[in-house]
Amino acid sequence: MKAADLFDLRHRVALVTGASSGLGQQFARALADNGAAVALVARRADRLAAFRDELEKSGARAIAVEADVTDRAAMLRAFDEAEKAFGTVDILVNNAGIAHGGRAVEMAPEDWRKVLGVNLDAVFFWAQEAARRMLAANRKGSIVNIASVLGLMVAKGGAAYAAAKAGVVQTTKALAVELAFKGVRVNAIAPGWFVTEMNDDYLMSDKGAAIKREIPMGRFGNAGDLDGALLLLASDAGAYITGATIVVDGGQVIQIKG
Ligand SMILES: NC(=O)c1ccc[n+]([C@@H]2O[C@H](COP(=O)([O-])OP(=O)(O)OC[C@H]3O[C@@H](n4cnc5c(N)ncnc54)[C@H](OP(=O)(O)O)[C@@H]3O)[C@@H](O)[C@H]2O)c1
Repeated sequence: MKAADLFDLRHRVALVTGASSGLGQQFARALADNGAAVALVARRADRLAAFRDELEKSGARAIAVEADVTDRAAMLRAFDEAEKAFGTVDILVNNAGIAHGGRAVEMAPEDWRKVLGVNLDAVFFWAQEAARRMLAANRKGSIVNIASVLGLMVAKGGAAYAAAKAGVVQTTKALAVELAFKGVRVNAIAPGWFVTEMNDDYLMSDKGAAIKREIPMGRFGNAGDLDGALLLLASDAGAYITGATIVVDGGQVIQIKG
């Protein structure tokens, strides 16, 4: 089969959380460029509207839905609005996330809960809702959860984030085995370091320069470096892939220092 046909997303409806900046915008653009209608979700409505306009100018079909991923009513409204505009969501990219750094012994309970709430709880409940609607509509679909190499390995100062992302990897597998029989695939992408609003201060500092030197490919990820993994998992090119976590990190996570 030709690659263009294998990765074709025309007649598909995607919902991307965290689409107001960074990787989420890149994911939404990649899906739209390959034919999907896209619902863009995040809290910053102005950013979403500007991005929706940009996608529409390039010929894509997109809507912007302001929602906090931890707000259940907002979640239901986001799926409803996507459905009303384009039909049942059959690609969910669970991308919204927050960073948190700090020593474990100093972690406040509310900080732990906040990181887990956005980075893990919301991933489960948005996936659950997407799956419920796919099953109800008798539609096959693909759920792509954005984990991290910090869900596979740990670094000092990242206990809550690492726990949440490890949870995303396991949640992905657990949902995959329950939903496989209905044709709903659930996979994850574990990015290494990409410069975004989440981490630009850190990665552009001396500490970031040191991190970069230790990445086998010698650079941080570029915007389009995740497109291939996303399109593989979202499209029929990945029809027999479920429960997988694809690591996209320039070789960072396989390396033992020494
Ligand atoms: N950049 C990296 O190196 C890297 C590496 C591994 C994994 N990741 C993961 O990739 C994902 C995207 O991160 P990024 O690097 O693109 O960071 P980013 O530019 O800061 O984007 C985070 C996105 O999440 C949204 N968001 C945060 N909290 C939200 C909430 N409560 N409700 C709705 N949306 C919320 C933000 O939108 P609003 O503020 O408008 O709501 C924003 O669009 C995250 O899950 C992150 O953990 C990133």
